[in-house]
Amino acid sequence: MLTEPTFTAELAEHLQHLQDTWQRGLTASGFDAAWIEAGEDLLHFRDDQGPLFKANAYLTQWVPPAYLSAGARLLVQADARPQLFLPRPEDYWHSVPSVPEHLGNMLDVHTFASMAALTAAAESALPVGAAAARVGPAGLSAAAAGENEQTRALNPAALLHYLDFHRACKTAHELTLMRQASEIGARGHRAARSAFAAGQPEFAIHMAYLSASAQNEQELPYGNIVAMNEHAAILHYQHQDRSLEGPPLSLLIDAGGQFQGYASDITRTYAAEGARHTVFRDLIDAMQAHQDKLIGSITVGMTYAELHDSMHRGLAELLAQSELVTCSSEDAYRQGITRAFCPHGLGHLLGLQVHDAGGHLADDQGNPLPPPEAYPSLRFTRAIQAGQVFTIEPGLYFMPQLLQPLREAGAPVNWQLVDALVPYGGIRIEDNIHVLPDGCENLTRDAFARL
Ligand code: GLY
Ligand code: MN
Ligand code: MN
Repeated sequence: MLTEPTFTAELAEHLQHLQDTWQRGLTASGFDAAWIEAGEDLLHFRDDQGPLFKANAYLTQWVPPAYLSAGARLLVQADARPQLFLPRPEDYWHSVPSVPEHLGNMLDVHTFASMAALTAAAESALPVGAAAARVGPAGLSAAAAGENEQTRALNPAALLHYLDFHRACKTAHELTLMRQASEIGARGHRAARSAFAAGQPEFAIHMAYLSASAQNEQELPYGNIVAMNEHAAILHYQHQDRSLEGPPLSLLIDAGGQFQGYASDITRTYAAEGARHTVFRDLIDAMQAHQDKLIGSITVGMTYAELHDSMHRGLAELLAQSELVTCSSEDAYRQGITRAFCPHGLGHLLGLQVHDAGGHLADDQGNPLPPPEAYPSLRFTRAIQAGQVFTIEPGLYFMPQLLQPLREAGAPVNWQLVDALVPYGGIRIEDNIHVLPDGCENLTRDAFARL
C-alpha cells in the first residue's frame, strides 16, 4: 500500500452512497438486511497451500482489501450504521490485518479473538425474524445444494443485479483510487518500455514492470501479459520467456495497477527500432489514431455495442488503407473480415474487478442485454452513462488460426503482407476511460502525463 487510507469527505460520501444503494437494493429484493461476507481461505487439492485470499468485491467496495481476512463480514441494514465484524485471532503464523480506524466515523467496527466469537455475535446482531440476504462466495457452493429457506437468501439475483448495475458509475472516491491505480500502472509501463528498448526478454521486462510499479505479483489486478513477437497474437499470453527466442520485433504489454482494491488495465504495443520495422510501426500509429477517434466519439446515450461496431468499421478502413485487404473497407466490414483480425470486444467495465460486473444488464432489475450474435466476446453492451469507467482497447492481430479459414475461402486479403506481419503478433492499445457528461477523462493518458 502506498499510503495508509485516511478519512476524507470523498470517502464519507462514498460510504453514504453505498448505504443508500444497498438500502434501495434490499427494498427492491425484499430483504431487511444483508451480510456481505469476505469469503474463506481455500486450499489446493490435498495440500496445505492455497491461492492468495481475495476478499469478495462487494465487500472491498466498502473496506479496502488490506483490512480483510477470511471470515470478515459487514452487516448492512436500513436506517442503521453498517456493522463490520473482523476476526483478529492471536496468530504467530501470519500477520493479522490492522483495524480500519479511519472508517470508524461511518461504520461500527467489532473485532473478535476467534471465529466462534464472531459467529456468535453475528447470530444475535439482527432482530428475530429479520430477512437477511448473504452476499459472498460461500453462497455459491451452498446454493448448489438445492433451494430452501437458507439458500434462497444466498446471493439473491434481484439484489446482485441491482448492485451490479449501479456499480458501473463510480463515486468521486472510487475515481480518486482509480487515478492512483492508473499511475501505478503507468510507472510500470514506462519501465517496461525502456527494458524492451534495451533488448531485454519478456521475463526481465515483467520484473522491470513489477519493480517500477512497486507491486508484487499478488498485488497485480491480473497476471501481466508480456508478449514479444508472435506471442502478441495470444490474447491472454501467460508466460514470460527468460531469454530472447530470436531478434525482438515487437512488444505487447497488457499490465495494470491495483490501489485499495481498484484496478487499472493498460496495454501498449511497441515496434523494435530500425527501418525494417517501419510497416509494423506505421500500423501501431494507425491503431493509435483509430483508438483516439473511438475515444473522441464517446457520447452519453449511445450504447457501447454501437461503439464496438464502429471499432470494426474503423478497423476495416485501417485494413484497406494499409493494404492488408484487397477489397474496399465497406466489403471488409460487411464480409466480417475484421473479426478475424480482432476477435475480442472493444472493452469492458472496470473497477473493483478488471472485467467489472454488470456489463450485460439492461437495467437494475436484471433484464439482460446479451452481446450481438456477431460479437459474442463483447463484455459490455449497455448504454453509456456519465460516471462509468470502461476500457477502450482496439486490437489488430495476425493469428494464423483465425486467418486460415479466410485463406481457404479465398478472402480478399493481402497474404504477402499478412505473412510478413505474423512474426510481430499483433497490436492492442488500451486506455481506461471515465465518461463525463460531455466528453471523457482518459485516466490512462492523464496518468502517463503526470509521471
Ligand atoms: N487485461 C485483460 C483485458 O484487457 O481485458
Ligand atoms: Mn481490458
Ligand atoms: Mn488489458
